[in-house]
Amino acid sequence: MNEQRLHSTALELMVAQKGLLAMDESIPTCDARFKALGIEQTVDMRRSYRELLITTPDMNAAISGVILCAESFNQSRRDGKSFVQLLSDANIIAGIKVDAGTKDMAGFHGEKVTLGLDGLRERLQSYASKGARFAKWRAVFTMGPFTPSQACLDSNAQQLALYAALCQECGLVPIVEPETLMTGSHTMQKCASVTELVLETVFHHLYLQRVFLEGLILKINMALPGSEAALPTSADDIAVCTVKTLLRRVPACLPGIAFLSGGQTPEQATQRLNAINKTYSGHNASVPWPLTFSFSRALQQPVLAAWSGESDNVITAQQILEHRLRCNQMALRGEYLPQMEDTAVHEF
Ligand code: 13P
Repeated sequence: MNEQRLHSTALELMVAQKGLLAMDESIPTCDARFKALGIEQTVDMRRSYRELLITTPDMNAAISGVILCAESFNQSRRDGKSFVQLLSDANIIAGIKVDAGTKDMAGFHGEKVTLGLDGLRERLQSYASKGARFAKWRAVFTMGPFTPSQACLDSNAQQLALYAALCQECGLVPIVEPETLMTGSHTMQKCASVTELVLETVFHHLYLQRVFLEGLILKINMALPGSEAALPTSADDIAVCTVKTLLRRVPACLPGIAFLSGGQTPEQATQRLNAINKTYSGHNASVPWPLTFSFSRALQQPVLAAWSGESDNVITAQQILEHRLRCNQMALRGEYLPQMEDTAVHEF
């Protein structure tokens, strides 16, 4: 394992004032989002949409890395230049989602395990030889009166650790993503305590598996009330609760932490990221890691809606992505204001 190289790639991904664009939705997920907007669900439509995202002007001002799915990793711009090459030309690091998705966990109603370890070493070697420098694996945990079970926690954490060790062997920085889902009516505090348990289990297995923590990035949910929770919670409260949870369970040597958006609206995700960074990062940093974004839905939702499968809408959709990136970049500095939602990109 080349520790120095892994560490420097992780630091490059976590460079100040940049985040990650997650565009690694599986084919079924991408198709479901297309279907909801009446967009044709074909290979070429998915390719066109991903070309739109990747070729957005000046993306590298706010994005250090892009997470691709297997399909788009092998796709190209209409003129034949590969997406991976386009990202490299734009000084953006290419990453690849390598899990094979979640499946029902036998014997544990309502819980999921993430699959994908079969043949993973060979796939990672192949992706690395084609230009990928990091990878991603997501596990999910559902919250209920009896979940997540210890069996679900251990099984997913062990697979995340095996994946991370294989990535590092192949020279790829693993993004380890254990997501506690927002679905439900639970409180923010309940989400925080489950997230704490998840982190405790995941870092235990990473330790057992001898994963090099300085060459790994954690991708995690914020501590949020459930999507059906009765009471609203302020961005400041979410920031305090989220960071307290992380401080209790994430080793200080980690190069960085990136938040997923997990079903928050784009504005909510930005506002909460802003509260987190305003309170804990920057000049008065009281956390040991950079705290950035690795959003999928919170970046892509308005872009996809604006595009709607029409080539005439590409420029407008790219401007919307640029605008969301600027808002999130301001949030990384703790300087985002809600009125920036109406500010034109060139006025930032
Ligand atoms: P969301 O930001 O939509 O939660 O997606 C993040 C992600 O990469 C899921 O694996």
